[in-house]
Amino acid sequence: MKILVTGGLGFIGSHTVVELQNKGFEVVIIDDCSNSDEQVLKGITAITGKKPEFEKIDLKDKDKVEDFFKRHQDVTGVIHFAASKAVGESVEKPLLYYENNIGTLVYILKELCKKNKASFIFSSSCTVYGQADKMPITEDAPVKTAESPYGNTKQMGEEIIADTCKVTPGLNAIALRYFNPMGAHPSAEIGELPKGVPQNLVPFITQTGIGLRDELSVFGDDYPTEDGTCIRDYIYVVDLAKAHVVALERLLDGKNTENYEVFNVGTGTGSSVLEAIQSFERVSGKKLNYKIVDRRPGDITTAYADTTKANEVLGWKSEYTLDEAMKSAWVWEQKIRD
Ligand SMILES: NC(=O)c1ccc[n+]([C@@H]2O[C@H](COP(=O)([O-])OP(=O)(O)OC[C@H]3O[C@@H](n4cnc5c(N)ncnc54)[C@H](O)[C@@H]3O)[C@@H](O)[C@H]2O)c1
Repeated sequence: MKILVTGGLGFIGSHTVVELQNKGFEVVIIDDCSNSDEQVLKGITAITGKKPEFEKIDLKDKDKVEDFFKRHQDVTGVIHFAASKAVGESVEKPLLYYENNIGTLVYILKELCKKNKASFIFSSSCTVYGQADKMPITEDAPVKTAESPYGNTKQMGEEIIADTCKVTPGLNAIALRYFNPMGAHPSAEIGELPKGVPQNLVPFITQTGIGLRDELSVFGDDYPTEDGTCIRDYIYVVDLAKAHVVALERLLDGKNTENYEVFNVGTGTGSSVLEAIQSFERVSGKKLNYKIVDRRPGDITTAYADTTKANEVLGWKSEYTLDEAMKSAWVWEQKIRD
């Protein structure tokens, strides 16, 4: 079984390639290294003992995508991670996001529609729920108006896949709505490698812990939560990677009940920003330098997943605690700074 992993050198993609190879899948990666490094291949190879096939292609190049699928007729499944993901940048450069996140998706789906049978897993996000009315968030919660072009690309991406599946019986797809991925592989061979200022909380915490940043800004402590800071559902990246393998196997084994399905991937537990900081302080033995600043526009108060559907239908459950995931992020940060 040859599986194409787009964005397979990125944070979540690289961990998923490892889990796929561990399960015996043959993997071919497409990545343009716009937000990653070819060195990641070494890390994947060190963990699995097998170097995945790799092609450096920009998926915005339609002809190259077409040519790739002509040369790799044996690809039966695609896990599509490749996308731009910085919310703030998407507000400044919306067309870049629509081209990179929507254009590339359309090109890949077009190729899959040419096949008799194909499986497709899409990286979606809990951002599609906005500030949900009820916690925990189930898959039935309404999709709210997107706060940013990035969020909109995830909503539109899901709609494009659903519409395509409706008229393409051979195409089976699953959208996984991730909550807040964090951490690094336990081997510390791969992990999160943010370019520039990290957009996510955990790499900002570990970079502050190691002294790369002076202090962490906590955006608001006057939210209607127990300690006043925002609450998120932090999911360990290896748990998340395993969810992709399980979802893919569901499609390849024909166990899906509809040809387009959606699953939340989180832990089911919400942790506040201050709890995440305390977790870092526990596992590192260091005090973190942080200050409370004004709320940041666009931040929602609380988001954590109801994972019942993924638990019962996919048979997948997150295994790692916040402290274990935080520890892996800290070990990784220390290794890369060395
Ligand atoms: N990390 C998160 O917090 C989070 C949360 C929800 C959803 N997601 C989604 O998950 C996916 C993976 O996220 P990640 O955190 O691993 O991001 P990442 O930036 O680490 O990985 C994305 C990879 O795609 C590659 N890429 C981007 N555009 C490309 C193109 N045109 N052609 C070829 N390769 C291209 C990048 O070089 C990078 O290696 C994205 O779709 C993202 O939107 C991420």
